Amino acid sequence: MKGFIFDLDGVIVDTAKYHYLAWKHLADQLGIAFTEEDNERFKGVSRRRCLEMLLEMGGLQVSQTQFDTWLLEKNEDYLSYIARMDASEILPDVPKVLKYLRERGVPMALGSASKNAGPILEKVGLSSYFKAVIDGNKVVKAKPDPQVFLLAAERLGLAPRQCVVFEDAQAGIAAANAAGMFSIGIGQADVLSEACQVFGDFTEIEISFIDRLLSTEPKTYQ
Ligand code: BG6
Ligand code: MG
Repeated sequence: MKGFIFDLDGVIVDTAKYHYLAWKHLADQLGIAFTEEDNERFKGVSRRRCLEMLLEMGGLQVSQTQFDTWLLEKNEDYLSYIARMDASEILPDVPKVLKYLRERGVPMALGSASKNAGPILEKVGLSSYFKAVIDGNKVVKAKPDPQVFLLAAERLGLAPRQCVVFEDAQAGIAAANAAGMFSIGIGQADVLSEACQVFGDFTEIEISFIDRLLSTEPKTYQ
């Protein structure tokens, strides 16, 4: 394995909770019941598709103008949560893994559905680790489509099967698998059961595991 691709929200930074709070806020306004369990399906999914899913849950059909207004409101709400973000919101032991990979000269990319990914990486001071940042502004097909990860591999100059992906979302694991990459789920094993391997968080990932991945011959995973 030669390249490592990281999702952002819920993998590198603890922003998944802010996306949830912003969707919950909008759902409450619209009188749509929205739980953390519902939110699992929203993880890794583009903003536009999330709103479509929310409206489907509420059985609502709205005009394009209304749709765009709610999309904007959700993002403004989300932006207010992340406005004061700093390095303290990097998830535990993520820097340990990023630093180690950089020391070993392993190229890394970000593969996120978020259109806010670039500014968030800047705020938490991690931009310099990534050779490529593929975000929601650069892809047309959202996860579970593999486009975001295939583009990341291309920018790293690697074949998909040489790449490892860290993901906290079901849609993201599906995208990594569809890309033919080695998918590592970060979160609950029952939620991320399609991943090649699952860890609760980065504190459970030993450097020896990373070393093993780096010395593993790439193969076809799907
Ligand atoms: C993903 C999140 O990373 O980005 C999703 O997991 C979110 O919850 C998506 O909907 C789009 O993010 P943004 O910042 O462009 O609204
Ligand atoms: Mg995520």
